[in-house]
Amino acid sequence: MKGTFFITGIDTNIGKSYATGWLAREWNRQGIKTITQKMVQTGNVGHSEDIDLHREIMGIPFTEEDREHITFPIVYSYPASPHLAAEIDHQTIPIDKIAESTRILRDRYDVVLLEGAGGLMVPITRDYLTIDYVADHELPVILVTSGRLGSINHTLLSIEALERRGIQLYGLVYNTYPKSDKFIDADTEAYLRNYLEKQHPEAHFWVLPQIELAR
Ligand SMILES: Nc1ncnc2c1ncn2[C@@H]1O[C@H](COP(=O)(O)OP(=O)(O)O)[C@@H](O)[C@H]1O
Ligand SMILES: [Mg+2]
Repeated sequence: MKGTFFITGIDTNIGKSYATGWLAREWNRQGIKTITQKMVQTGNVGHSEDIDLHREIMGIPFTEEDREHITFPIVYSYPASPHLAAEIDHQTIPIDKIAESTRILRDRYDVVLLEGAGGLMVPITRDYLTIDYVADHELPVILVTSGRLGSINHTLLSIEALERRGIQLYGLVYNTYPKSDKFIDADTEAYLRNYLEKQHPEAHFWVLPQIELAR
């Protein structure tokens, strides 16, 4: 198994970083040499909290590529959407750096899990969306969702956006954290499994457990 997969979510704070670290850990355990990359990190200076979290979940120290910032080539200080965070830092986003970094990582690893910022329609610049980047680079998508009220709607909207642009849905990660209403949780998982089986039978369905970090 080889390739770059784009990890996105139905919303910000849905568990993309947890899902990314968890998939990287599981795939490495299966012998698939997997690394993670953050497309654009906002709200940090000189590091990426998402990459920090991936390594913690993977249970590995920082890699050479982390120390060289290849895994997080673009970082802005203000915690906002990339287009706004870049403007606040008086920067123009060097979009080419994202794919350059992915290329370097692909030479060294079998799989790159590229975590986006927010969801599919998050602007990278004023006239370039996250989903435009995914389409331009023909990346299969792993979509992170959850059992909270509203997730079915957000998930189906995200999937329709992918379909409209001919982007492959590689799989859905159903995040079991945080637990909300038990009826809604159970029904959301069942509903999404059924929807995927009917509409995208080739797509994977993973259930992400609650992960306790040793802090
Ligand atoms: N599976 C999980 N196990 C434990 N905590 C989780 C899990 N998923 C999400 N969280 C919690 O929710 C927060 C947001 O998750 P995160 O992966 O950072 O979201 P995103 O990357 O989509 O913004 C985390 O800081 C963590 O506290
Ligand atoms: Mg994240």
